[in-house]
Amino acid sequence: MRQAVSTLGVLLLVGLTMGASGLHPAPLRAVAVYERKCSSCHGKEGALLERGFEKKYASASELREVVASMPGAIGMRREELDTMIAYLRAISREEPFLVWTERKDNALEGEVSPGTALVRAAAGRKTLKVVRPEPNRWRIELPRDARLEDVEITAQSGKGRTTLRLRDAPYSHTR
Ligand code: HEC
Repeated sequence: MRQAVSTLGVLLLVGLTMGASGLHPAPLRAVAVYERKCSSCHGKEGALLERGFEKKYASASELREVVASMPGAIGMRREELDTMIAYLRAISREEPFLVWTERKDNALEGEVSPGTALVRAAAGRKTLKVVRPEPNRWRIELPRDARLEDVEITAQSGKGRTTLRLRDAPYSHTR
């Protein structure tokens, strides 16, 4: 019982701190899930998908239907599917994809594709150090005085450049 109460307390506290900014990480590690469930048919980082394939679909909901019907997508929640579709748009446009997936205190973690892309981060005017635990992952430490709303992450590769502003969304290519 006591443990249940303290767990609840921690959850409330986490809820309050996160709620303070109202910004949340994405619900899906889209790049890792893609590699695990989709790459066997569509290639590493989407290499076998046709460039510009999204143009074949008249609307976003048509593309959603196709993706939702894929073997690895069965049972995905709507918000998870949204994250995956954003990644697919980036692949279709040959642009780097960025997603924020975790927050542990002041540490933020996420994914980038392709893994060869150069990732930079800033909070307002302050440049933040970016660590890459794995080619497709990035990690930054938010200084105490920095606000989540001010964090901007960019990814640069031969394929172009993508900027993710956490105040807008937890991942790029939302449309
Ligand atoms: C067993 C092989 C297989 C797996 C696994 C698979 N797909 Fe597919 N996918 C296909 C085939 C075959 C097509 C083309 C036929 C069709 O449109 O249904 C396709 C079509 C697509 C298209 C449309 C491409 C275009 O050019 O229009 C997208 C996007 C896509 N898949 C995404 C995914 C995602 C995301 C996953 C993982 C969640 C996935 N697929 C898993 C076989 C697979």
